[in-house]
Amino acid sequence: MPTTAVMVEPASRVRGRVRPPGDKSISHRYALLAAMADGTSIIRGYSTGGDCASTLRCLRGLGVEIRQTGTDDEAGVTIEIAGRGLRGLVAPGAMLDAGNSGSTIRMLSGLLAAHPFRTSIAGDASLRRRPMRRIIVPLERMGARFVSDDGRPPLTVEGTLDLAAIDFAPDVPSAQVKSAVLLAGLHAHGTTRVREPLQTRDHTERALRLFGATVHEVDGGIALAGGQRLSARSLSVPGDLSSAAFWMVAAAALPGSEIVVEDVGLNPTRTGILGILERAGARIDTVASGGGDEPVGTLRVRHGGLRDLVIAPEEVPGVIDELPVLAALATHGGSISVSGAQELRVKESDRISALADGLRRMGAEIEEQPDGFRVRGSRRLPGGEVDARNDHRLAMAFAVAALGASGPTTIHDAGAAAVSYPQFFSVLESLRA
Ligand code: S3P
Repeated sequence: MPTTAVMVEPASRVRGRVRPPGDKSISHRYALLAAMADGTSIIRGYSTGGDCASTLRCLRGLGVEIRQTGTDDEAGVTIEIAGRGLRGLVAPGAMLDAGNSGSTIRMLSGLLAAHPFRTSIAGDASLRRRPMRRIIVPLERMGARFVSDDGRPPLTVEGTLDLAAIDFAPDVPSAQVKSAVLLAGLHAHGTTRVREPLQTRDHTERALRLFGATVHEVDGGIALAGGQRLSARSLSVPGDLSSAAFWMVAAAALPGSEIVVEDVGLNPTRTGILGILERAGARIDTVASGGGDEPVGTLRVRHGGLRDLVIAPEEVPGVIDELPVLAALATHGGSISVSGAQELRVKESDRISALADGLRRMGAEIEEQPDGFRVRGSRRLPGGEVDARNDHRLAMAFAVAALGASGPTTIHDAGAAAVSYPQFFSVLESLRA
């Protein structure tokens, strides 16, 4: 599937209403916490993307019973997870497969650190290149043991009943690292504290509270006492703002466009993209519709001209997944300059080098730096043939750049979009005005 090539024709504008797929980050967390809770949880709108399926597959391999009980159109599926209680996972009979999903392997390692058996977790070629020392170091400090391929998957985690709480300050702002340590901390003796260099998405903290745990904010960080039991819940996953970002950027880029995004997550640690698109000239109306522990609402995004953008290092964690599509925005007009984003080099691909290669092949002028890039605002790229390098966000970002080209663009490996947004290319066709 990842080798699929898709040809994207230019579009004069995009118009329509979209309900993005269930949020990928929240889906993973609800599934992991439901697996550790007492009782059966119901999760509606669970992402149908390949990454969230990887989390369910791994949990099943650890003895968790999961049933799909419904399909919620584009929104996702309804699943029931029979919680096994704290430390209730059982030793798997075989190596687990996290597929393409960094969130799965990193957060699951936090849980497995507290289980007194060995688990091996492998992944695809992309995952096998991704750095794991960032979770191995703190989880070993807590008492777990790891075997890895020089800091990369496959990983073998040997957990312990004797996990000790730590005070941890990660070097990189990473919600996956914070979450792995907190999930281990839930099982540790004492209170675990995580102090991040910059705020990252806080879905784990919110989800822990939702499942009944007490989580404190401490000066610049989070504190969680070990030994707290979780209770099953009935929950809905909001739409994924990072998936919606492709349509929001397309609407901001193409004159005469208007896209309404319904039932989308508006967690303030994720909404950096809204302010940035407004800075670029987009007109955005936001109507909050409440939501429970995760804010939800409706967005209307319209084109309003395009201005140059500078993304500062402190903004990067809030839009880390949106940077590829923001680079695509600059191919429609206005320039973009991004720094402090070296983390892009260790995502599903080296996103700086792969973006530069793809956008150049479409005719853009892009300058690569070790920690970012600069795209010269251009009008009317010719289009061309690009390689998404098996990276879902690149496949979709190239498609958004292709909408503004003068000719068609062929995207190789476009099937990678299914990792987070299986319906992406059919929704794209429905939004052409
Ligand atoms: C995620 C955190 C980010 C993000 C990824 C999802 C999460 O990764 O890029 O798509 O759900 O916690 P890092 O934690 O590696 O920055």
